[in-house]
Amino acid sequence: MEKWLKSEGENILKQVGIRKGQKVLDFGCGSGIYSIIASKIVGSTGIIYALDKNGEKIKELKRKINSLKIKNIEIIETTGEIPVPLENNSLNVILIYDVFHLLNKEDRHVFLQEVKRLLKIGGFLSYYITHTKEYDVDLEEVNNQLIKNNIVFKRKLQVPMVHWGSIEDSLIFNYYKI
Ligand SMILES: C[S@@+](CC[C@H](N)C(=O)[O-])C[C@H]1O[C@@H](n2cnc3c(N)ncnc32)[C@H](O)[C@@H]1O
Repeated sequence: MEKWLKSEGENILKQVGIRKGQKVLDFGCGSGIYSIIASKIVGSTGIIYALDKNGEKIKELKRKINSLKIKNIEIIETTGEIPVPLENNSLNVILIYDVFHLLNKEDRHVFLQEVKRLLKIGGFLSYYITHTKEYDVDLEEVNNQLIKNNIVFKRKLQVPMVHWGSIEDSLIFNYYKI
């Protein structure tokens, strides 16, 4: 786990496509495992919007940001509403890592509409796929809604990711706005 947090995680987010200077939304960031790693990659010219509805997780993330002296993570604390308070066509990347299943049907639909609104052309949604069976997530339905929004599936990665405090062989799908 330590090795993953120190170096492997950064390599994986680079494989995902995160680059220097990008604007990244980490929707449902939790305590910010991925936000913090992404913040190192995007550097001072980029920004990570770390959004979550869980006040305790946000507090934990704020503590980490302070102790690591991170300057490029902006926290967005919500009450769980899906519309995201960011401008149209403003983001290069949206991460939805181990979160989508937690949204109800209507919110999943609204979230995918938001992806269309928020991404720049050429930007992408990166979806770490978890709990599809238990939470009745239909990936074909996700794909179909995204296609209607001119967002197309392009890349699948099979990589080790942090899940419930340990490292698991995992799947990430990337969908690009064309
Ligand atoms: C399993 S955790 C994943 C955290 C992080 N993405 C990771 O992979 O380490 C799911 C997170 O999604 C957040 N979440 C769920 N529904 C949300 C919503 N509607 N708006 C904002 N955050 C939400 C939860 O509060 C929780 O922190």
